[in-house]
Amino acid sequence: MKSQVLEWSEELATGLDIVDNQHKGLINFINDLTNNIDLDHKKELKYFNSVKDEITNYIIEHFSTEENIMELNNINKRFLDQHRYEHSTFIKKIGGIIETSEINFSLDDVVFFLIEWVINHINQTDKNSLNKGMIT
Ligand SMILES: [Fe+2]
Repeated sequence: MKSQVLEWSEELATGLDIVDNQHKGLINFINDLTNNIDLDHKKELKYFNSVKDEITNYIIEHFSTEENIMELNNINKRFLDQHRYEHSTFIKKIGGIIETSEINFSLDDVVFFLIEWVINHINQTDKNSLNKGMIT
């Protein structure tokens, strides 16, 4: 049976439907990855290779949605710069995982990293800088 490791809840709400829906999509990706954790790392890598482009593109599009919203709403530049920095660091990290995946791959490491980053980022950065109250 498929398990839901992560579930979206109101606690993760940024107050912007488009962003919240994309966050739900991200959580679905993480749950799908989690359901493909296997003792056989070769099998895991095969699965990861089949979804990595889709996930990466989804994330890139999601980040640009957030950054566009912040730009359009003239959010404090300090918030925008910090947010952009976090996004680009994350993309680099994902790129590194993909680059080295043929050598030493473990899907549970990837899932652990994603869960930690996504939840922290939503809670600490997205909620602060995308919250309706911050957008003037
Ligand atoms: Fe963000």
